[in-house]
Amino acid sequence: MSGIRIRGTGCSLPRQTVTNQDLSRMVETSDEWIYARTGIRERRRCVEESQCELALNAARAALEMAGASPADIGVCLVPTITPDYITPSTACMLQKELGMPEDTVCFDLSAACSGFVFGLHTAQALLAYSRRKYGLIVCSEVLSRITDYTDRGTCILFGDGAGAAVVEYSDRYAPMPSVLGARGDRESLYAPGIDRGEPPVLHMGGTQVFKFAVETVPECIRALLDRAGLTPEDVDQFVFHQANRRILERVMKKMGIPEEKVWMNMEHYGNVSSASTAIALDDAVRAGRLAPGQKALCCAFGGGLTWAGALVELA
Ligand code: UT7
Repeated sequence: MSGIRIRGTGCSLPRQTVTNQDLSRMVETSDEWIYARTGIRERRRCVEESQCELALNAARAALEMAGASPADIGVCLVPTITPDYITPSTACMLQKELGMPEDTVCFDLSAACSGFVFGLHTAQALLAYSRRKYGLIVCSEVLSRITDYTDRGTCILFGDGAGAAVVEYSDRYAPMPSVLGARGDRESLYAPGIDRGEPPVLHMGGTQVFKFAVETVPECIRALLDRAGLTPEDVDQFVFHQANRRILERVMKKMGIPEEKVWMNMEHYGNVSSASTAIALDDAVRAGRLAPGQKALCCAFGGGLTWAGALVELA
């Protein structure tokens, strides 16, 4: 039985920062309210950068850390809800820009904020059928394109950015345990697509999503640890979707996880949908909080309503 481990991570963030103060000039809100309710102080916003450029830079950084070449990539997945093009996929554009082989399986994946973990799971499954041993998962989002800057219930949360991981598939590694799910929900968190008769902006029932997250994330962690035969003490770092500090505090309390084991960076980047978990993982690795041989439990939730957890090990 073979599995994947993380070989390299990377991220790319647009230059412009939007602070809570900036937003308080656009909608009726304040830095105090936003920080107290979410833990967010600022987020990034694309001005010149495209979603594909962010993806490309994050992918290059992850390949460099992994010491891998685009020619080694068997599967390239781009979890995103804000691609530059409906077609071609961002993954196909990366194939060309990075020079990945024609038989690299490249496609975009739509699982909203759970996308990074859906990507890890899918890459592991598909690499079993590839003659190349590396997979590339690149989460890239320009949420500012689908954010309604007159809605104070959503515009304070979201930011732009990209995070990537290179995974290595080998028979030396045990299969990465993962737990995925969805509720088939269309109302709590959605953005209409083509011809729905309304602008394609995000709508969210904040309280419903909050409740969903504080129930589902602990269940997902328990299921994952049970599957792996581990306890929270065996995990070196918990890397969650960076939606809201208060959600993560509830999860830590419910599960008895100490704060120093939970990586949080929503203060600087806000919620970057699929890219949040990938950027947080890269941040934790580069800050020295995760080293080769250590285990990270990644868990995310979002539109769908989807949830996903994976217990990843660093190669
Ligand atoms: O990746 C997708 C996952 N998404 C999430 O995880 C989002 C989860 N939900 C949340 O993070 C929170 O629900 C929010 C931060 C969005 C909202 O916080 P809340 O504590 O649930 O506030 P609320 O919606 O219950 O609203 C409380 C009050 C309301 O005023 P009234 O009706 O009590 O007078 C809102 O109108 O706060 C008001 N409010 C605001 N006030 C100042 C809502 N947004 C703002 C704001 N600034 N930005």
